[in-house]
Amino acid sequence: MSDFEDKVRETLANPKNQGEMQDADSVGTVGSPDCGDMLRMWLKFKEENGKKVIDRASFQSFGCQTAIAVASMATEMLKGKTEEEARHLSAQELSGDLGALPPMKIHCGQLVEGALKSALDQSPAEEPAKAEDSNTLSNSMQQASGKIRIVKLEE
Ligand code: FES
Repeated sequence: MSDFEDKVRETLANPKNQGEMQDADSVGTVGSPDCGDMLRMWLKFKEENGKKVIDRASFQSFGCQTAIAVASMATEMLKGKTEEEARHLSAQELSGDLGALPPMKIHCGQLVEGALKSALDQSPAEEPAKAEDSNTLSNSMQQASGKIRIVKLEE
């Protein structure tokens, strides 16, 4: 087993920040109908030293183990980042301590990156996400059929 696979397995033994965030400021949902996986990410912001930074992030996934492990790493890494800093994080960077994503797993990291960018695109000031607005992931998954790449799913 590769070092990467070992780290994925370790992360899955204790994934961080899994589950819906009731008081989130924004939420992003993407799907990859190529593999059938989906991921939703919630963000909560706070003011820190005059800047708006990410206070917390959480995720829910119908995804492969790599996507869950990357999302766990990413939601930890995002704490304290400004919107601009978060927007520039690549799938490889979001993988954190997992190390470089193998070629066959890059799209798994991109699913996490896509959910993050989708959440960042939803400005908290304009359109706060309310828990009652968040469809279940399974509902969104049904809307994803027919798409051929990682896409932002409209609520
Ligand atoms: Fe689809 Fe990993 S196989 S996200």
